[in-house]
Amino acid sequence: MKNLGFIGAGRMATALARGCVTANLVGAEGVLASDPHQPSREKFAEELPGARVTGENAAVLSECDTVVLAVKPQMMDGVLAEIRPHVEGRHLLVSIAAGVTLERLARQLPASTRLIRVMPNTPCLIGQGASAFALDAAATAEDAAMVERLLASVGKSYEVEEPLLDAVTGLSGSGPAFVYTVIEAMAAGGVAGGLSPELALELATQTAAGAAAMVAQTGLSPAELRSHVTSPNGTTLAGLNALAERNGSAAIQAAVEAATNRSIELGKS
Ligand SMILES: NC(=O)c1ccc[n+]([C@@H]2O[C@H](COP(=O)([O-])OP(=O)(O)OC[C@H]3O[C@@H](n4cnc5c(N)ncnc54)[C@H](OP(=O)(O)O)[C@@H]3O)[C@@H](O)[C@H]2O)c1
Repeated sequence: MKNLGFIGAGRMATALARGCVTANLVGAEGVLASDPHQPSREKFAEELPGARVTGENAAVLSECDTVVLAVKPQMMDGVLAEIRPHVEGRHLLVSIAAGVTLERLARQLPASTRLIRVMPNTPCLIGQGASAFALDAAATAEDAAMVERLLASVGKSYEVEEPLLDAVTGLSGSGPAFVYTVIEAMAAGGVAGGLSPELALELATQTAAGAAAMVAQTGLSPAELRSHVTSPNGTTLAGLNALAERNGSAAIQAAVEAATNRSIELGKS
């Protein structure tokens, strides 16, 4: 890729730009990000030496063929109205704004604009993201491959049909918060057993990371892996029974479903 543009030079834009440069998808000098606020521009330039910044959104469209729309959802309509006159056939626009549908984007842009909607999650900020993306009718297989490479530079990515992005939002978008809650609760259990809060948090965090890596690397199902640590009448079984008595896994499933439903509701407003 010769160049890569960002409208909005915030946290997500910085993470994606850094990922793409580190993965050699684009040189730092090929990155151009716009932001109306000087401090945001300075921070972006500081975190990605060699990248260029501007206060003019139109400059990003004039220089770059692939442009990531990385502003907050509530800023999107204003940004689209501003960039619309500068969008041409050569552009691929990639929106990472939560809840902003392809239909809403397309309605405010020239007909046949190639659009891709991405749902990233916060671990993208440290290169461990789980993202999903959906293409509009005008986007091509090469566009999909491009976005896949872009997202691969900050974690894993999966193509889905757009309606499934609500379920993705409930699972991987909101999911880090659910996992933080599990880590916090496990650490509290350790503290109740006499561990210091610091050691308990370290052990809980490393246990969550290790268990996730076991699922990812062994190819075994969570149920199989769980059976490997559960001996009859043992400690793990006592813990799993306590979880089951309190409907622990049903509660976590309900959290994902509630977040999904909220995403559907927000998409309608
Ligand atoms: N962070 C995440 O983990 C995450 C996860 C999923 C989806 N997303 C989506 O990613 C998008 C960006 O999130 P973020 O966390 O990176 O937000 P952020 O740090 O607030 O970045 C947004 C940037 O856009 C700038 N901006 C505001 N109005 C603008 C305009 N008219 N033209 C150009 N730039 C403008 C903001 O400037 P000021 O701050 O100076 O106002 C800010 O620097 C959001 O739509 C969010 O829904 C983020």
